[in-house]
Amino acid sequence: MRVLLTGGAGYIGSHTAITLIEHGHDVVIVDDLSNSSEEAVRRAARLVGRDLPLVVGDAADSALLGRVMREHRVDAVIHFASLKSPNASISHPLRYYRVNIDSALAVLEAMADCDVQRLVFSSSAAVYERPGPLLDEQAPSGLDLAHPYGRTKAMIEAIIADAGVANERLQAAVLRYFNPVGAHPSGEIGEDPQDIPNNLMPYISQVAAGVREQLQIFGGDYDTADGTGVRDYIHVLDLAEGHVAALEALEPGVLTVNLGTGRGVSVLEAVRAFEDVVGRRLPHRIVARRDGDSAHATANPALAHQRLGWRARRAFDEAVADAWRWQRANPRGYRS
Ligand code: NAD
Ligand code: WQD
Repeated sequence: MRVLLTGGAGYIGSHTAITLIEHGHDVVIVDDLSNSSEEAVRRAARLVGRDLPLVVGDAADSALLGRVMREHRVDAVIHFASLKSPNASISHPLRYYRVNIDSALAVLEAMADCDVQRLVFSSSAAVYERPGPLLDEQAPSGLDLAHPYGRTKAMIEAIIADAGVANERLQAAVLRYFNPVGAHPSGEIGEDPQDIPNNLMPYISQVAAGVREQLQIFGGDYDTADGTGVRDYIHVLDLAEGHVAALEALEPGVLTVNLGTGRGVSVLEAVRAFEDVVGRRLPHRIVARRDGDSAHATANPALAHQRLGWRARRAFDEAVADAWRWQRANPRGYRS
């Protein structure tokens, strides 16, 4: 298939581009580079040994998307483009609703215009209203969330469901990612936060690289085995393979699945795993809980296995080793 990746220059999109090519698909990327760099696409292209077309533009521009779909004879869209910081969305809710909702609408409009019927959408575990262990897709999800970012994802899920009711030819997969981590094993591409990282793994990586002094662990008194928060960290290449599986399994209707490992890792366990890879202690201290955080959030990944024939294969330690290889080689990301 020829696949249009909105946001394909980003962290998950660039890894998915490589995996799609390795599975015999073609890609074209539309990205405004607001949170990524052309260098990511150049390096991904080098890794697969071929050109990866990049159109620099706004995913909320349905006319632009339509032109790209026609010009590249696109069969399917994976819609990654989005703003993604839960914290920033609390301070800038209108920006989050504008960018995330507009781009999803533009994708669906351009698809309808060009008679493209296959869509894979980047949703998030952030849509679950009561995070906990082994969440399945039936767990309550919706608008009763701690931040606007999660609400944009829940709203787009509803928009896609409505589009599917109106158009029975639409084939859509809504993928609820848990916590993507790691990097391509080459160390050439990886996660490149433009600012102080919000997420745990890039923060620990930067502490290990000496870019930041100390990790603050948000809360040591949760009801978990060691008191720190437990999450389901999934290697970004497992996630990328989940997209290929979802794309290849599409059928009329909307399928919503978790992409996670089903295994929980605490913050302290993550720090230890990192220390093992780096070979020294990493400065950290426990501070107050972060607003809106929960003790536990892990996926029940059974439906993805049943419907997509996919499961996460890589161990957490492998993701840590890959993240470190990327960080060490590129202490300042693509600007290194
Ligand atoms: P990312 O920021 O690295 O990638 C998103 C890409 O979209 C960036 O390249 C950015 O430049 C681009 N973009 C943003 N707004 C755009 C616009 N209006 N037009 C064109 N391009 C635009 O983020 P990521 O981690 O790769 O996330 C990809 C998707 O997965 C997002 O939808 C995100 O919400 C979702 N997601 C991410 C995580 C995570 O922890 N990384 C977890 C769950 C869901
Ligand atoms: C993981 C654990 C923190 C940073 C977020 C979004 C979610 C999804 C994935 C997009 C928690 C702790 C973190 C730090 C810490 N993104 N932590 N010190 O919060 O599970 O999920 O990213 O869709 O929507 O909310 O991920 O990596 O921020 O945190 O102690 O400096 O690490 O409290 O227990 P989270 P995270």
